Amino acid sequence: MTKLTFPPGFRWGVATSAYQIEGAWNEDGRGESIWDRFVHMPGNVQDGSTGDVACDHYHRWREDVALMQQLAIQVYRFSVSWPRILPAGFGQINQAGLDFYDRLVDGLLAAGITPFITLYHWELPVTLQDKGGWPHRDTASAFAELADVTSRALGDRVKNWITHNEPWCTSMLSHELGEHAPGWRNGNAALKTAHHVLLSHGMAVQRLRANVPDVQVGIALNFEPAVPASASPADYHAARIWDGYYSRWFLDPLYGRHYPADMVAHYRATGYLPHDLDFVRHGDLDLIATPTDFLGINYYTRHLARAADVPDNLPQEIFPDPPAARTEMDWEVYPPALYHLLNWLHFGYRVPKIYITENGCSYLDAPDAGGRVSDERRIRYMRDHLAAAHRAIGNGVPLAGYLQWSLMDNFEWARGYTQRFGIVYVDYETQQRIPKDSAYWYRDVIAGNGFVIAD
Ligand code: FCB
Repeated sequence: MTKLTFPPGFRWGVATSAYQIEGAWNEDGRGESIWDRFVHMPGNVQDGSTGDVACDHYHRWREDVALMQQLAIQVYRFSVSWPRILPAGFGQINQAGLDFYDRLVDGLLAAGITPFITLYHWELPVTLQDKGGWPHRDTASAFAELADVTSRALGDRVKNWITHNEPWCTSMLSHELGEHAPGWRNGNAALKTAHHVLLSHGMAVQRLRANVPDVQVGIALNFEPAVPASASPADYHAARIWDGYYSRWFLDPLYGRHYPADMVAHYRATGYLPHDLDFVRHGDLDLIATPTDFLGINYYTRHLARAADVPDNLPQEIFPDPPAARTEMDWEVYPPALYHLLNWLHFGYRVPKIYITENGCSYLDAPDAGGRVSDERRIRYMRDHLAAAHRAIGNGVPLAGYLQWSLMDNFEWARGYTQRFGIVYVDYETQQRIPKDSAYWYRDVIAGNGFVIAD
């Protein structure tokens, strides 16, 4: 047996987002977001459900904080709902909305839990969408206002801030692929969105630095590292383009390298840039590259890259051996990619500090007759990913913490309630919370700052 011990001060936590847990979508002056609109249109969510009630966290937050305290959680990453604070997106502040987060922050601190706030986890106010949304440059300034208002109200107590969650999702998944709100399918709008999101990140970093003494600020990117499906050069090229599309398009400008030239050429060829980078104005790239304190990484799975219709592309598929396990999302369980990702970020970008801001898995394990939820597969998933992270730390990767997704089962966007990512089970009929076996396992990991693995 070997014990994997994490560095002293390594931070252990869990993550959620406002729309996925809060409910109370039209209470206390909250405005409407693009997700409220999206879920209320038939056909957008797999099971036809909405986040109208979700985990009812807006009313049950005290119970949820107490639960985290029992589970020895050190860090809680949550997001603020933009239209709860600024119902029209800018201008008039909804004090009741701000007060909710104010009480939550005080509750967390009283329980000895460090809050990490995400400013944008996808809840754009519809008023801004109707003015053009993220493809419109003015949305970036409105976001800077959200950062300003929120940090003025909470910055005396909250020191850790994440500007955006997963700009790839905000841009590509939502504007190119149409799977998330607002459900557009327009490559050029997606690239404009990416630019304005990155720009708004830079603007927000500056507001946060001005308003929050001793601030630690970063952004959370999602990664699905590509592995070529075969030894064919065509598949290697496909893998490179995938990484460009998913990761480098965001990382490179954030770390002062401009948009990657191979991807600019690629997007010209696909027609996504009919007028080149005309939306990039003088000074934008400097603003986007405003130094941050950490990078948040969200990692769930890898991507097998396979070129289409290429004659030399044989064999067509390589299956991992033994056949890889898949989660309920049908995502391959592949911890080694997390190890490589951490190294790539450290050695390739010299990121000063990294947090794993999301990592987790959906499995449908439910309470047995005795009320126990034994989710052995989740424990294995977390253990193997943490072991990969630990190995990367051994190479010098400055990994400062791990935030599991998610504290509790919740509304999984376009998949509705068909997925369960929580270490705590939620009975949506009664809103009862039942910690799964993984929650108790994680509590022990936190207590021991590590865990024992078989040799
Ligand atoms: C991430 C999102 C998070 C959750 C997990 C499963 O892409 O940030 O809200 O949906 O996936």
